[in-house]
Formats: sequence, structure tokens, C-alpha cells
Amino acid sequence: MKLFCVGCGPGDPELLTVRAVNLIKSAEVIFAPTAREGKPSIALSVVEKYIDRSTKTVSLVFPMVKDRESLKDYWKRNAEEIAGTVRSGKNVVYLTVGDPALYSTWIYIHRELKRNHKDIEVEIVPGIASMFAIAAKAGISLAEGEETVAIVPACYDMERVRRTATACDTVIFLKDGRYFDSVIEMLGESGFPDGADIAIAQDISAEKGEILEIKKLSDLLGKKGPTEKYFSIMVAKKNARD
Ligand SMILES: C[S@@+](CC[C@H](N)C(=O)[O-])C[C@H]1O[C@@H](n2cnc3c(N)ncnc32)[C@H](O)[C@@H]1O
Repeated sequence: MKLFCVGCGPGDPELLTVRAVNLIKSAEVIFAPTAREGKPSIALSVVEKYIDRSTKTVSLVFPMVKDRESLKDYWKRNAEEIAGTVRSGKNVVYLTVGDPALYSTWIYIHRELKRNHKDIEVEIVPGIASMFAIAAKAGISLAEGEETVAIVPACYDMERVRRTATACDTVIFLKDGRYFDSVIEMLGESGFPDGADIAIAQDISAEKGEILEIKKLSDLLGKKGPTEKYFSIMVAKKNARD
């Protein structure tokens, strides 16, 4: 009775591990997260071409709200459905975008399984996280030598973000692109020099629709950024070396 959690990378179906592809191809049931009923799952769309016609796909709703109390019922119900399917003897995969260990719905499912479904064995297959995809596309390093890196969900506490930006050499902002403009202004006030490198991307590695912009901080201050979407990522590097 084993469940496989598979990280399906940043969007390009070529950017999956061999193990991920093999598990997806042989799955009888694939579960994947979606933000609301009827909305196609991004993770499922990434791996579409590997899914056998006989495989059942199930989108599980994880609403995009911050209130953990109201989310707990969804985590519990979704984990019960997954555990029940694994117990029925089926070959089951749970999909997540990027890597399962980074801001993923899997983290909550896994916790539920460990607490309430201890009979379910789990194997996690890592995936390429969006921060590595943007670094590759932009041709930048995330850290070298003694540099420190922070990963920040940009839509949360701006004062905390400011302290993090002051303390670290590279800051990676995930989640909501609508906050990037105010984050850029804040970087200017937190010790990031005018020449700092800023890479911003939306739908990186997607087959269509990818946006990628690499600029100096001074070019972006006071301007409106290129992305407002949820699937946006920004890397700010204090020490531009090139
Ligand atoms: C819930 S988090 C999941 C992160 C994911 N587990 C990872 O390893 O990258 C979703 C956020 O990751 C970032 N993200 C994931 N895939 C992306 C992509 N293809 N392009 C741009 N940003 C992406 C965005 O910041 C998005 O809001």
C-alpha cells in the first residue's frame, strides 16, 4: 500500500525525472490539486502526454485562502480519498508542480497521512523547482561562495520581507506577481544597489505564454512590472557580478 508523490517540474513536460515519467505512465489513478471545482489542474496539464487512456485522473480542490482552519477540512477529506484509493490496491500517484517540498499542497496531505493514515507508505519523487527553472532560463546563479539565499512568499508580511532582504544576498519571491512592484520598491530601501540583477518570470517553462525579463533594479524602480499572475517568480541578486 504505497502512494507516490511526484514532482512534475516547472511546466515543460521534458523537465521531469525518468522516475516521475515511469510512475505517471503506470499509474491507475492520478490525483492532482486545483484551486477550485472545475478549474483544470496545472500539474495534470504538464504531464498530459504521459497519462495512459485507461488512467483515472482526479482533481482535488485546495482553495487559495490563507485561513488554515477552513483549509483543514479540505486536507482531511482529500487525504481520506487518496488513502482509500491506495487501500483499494490501485497504483496511485499524487502530482505537484515543481518540487513537492516547496509550498506544495502535498505537505498538508503528507501530514494528514502521517497522522491519520499510518498504514499508507509514501515515496516522494523530487521535481525541478521553479527557482531552478528561472535561474536556467535567465542564465544566473542563485548563490556562489558565501552568499546566502532566502525564499519568500511575496504576498505575506512586507516588514518580514524587508528584514529578509536586508540579511540575504539573493531573495527568491514566489506566489503572487501582483506584489512584485511593491517588493521592488522595498528592495531599493533594503540595501539592494541600483545595479542589482532582477529576473522576473511568469509561466516559466510553459509550452506557451512564458514571460521572462532580466533587468537592473534601477530600471524597474517606479515602473510597473511585467507580471500580475499567480504563477510568477522573481529573483533579486544583490551582488551582480557580470
Ligand atoms: C504553490 S507554489 C509551488 C512551488 C513549487 N512546488 C516549486 O517547486 O516551484 C506556486 C508558486 O510557485 C511559483 N511557480 C511554480 N511554477 C512556476 C512557473 N512555471 N513559472 C513561474 N512561477 C512558478 C509561482 O511563484 C507560484 O505562485
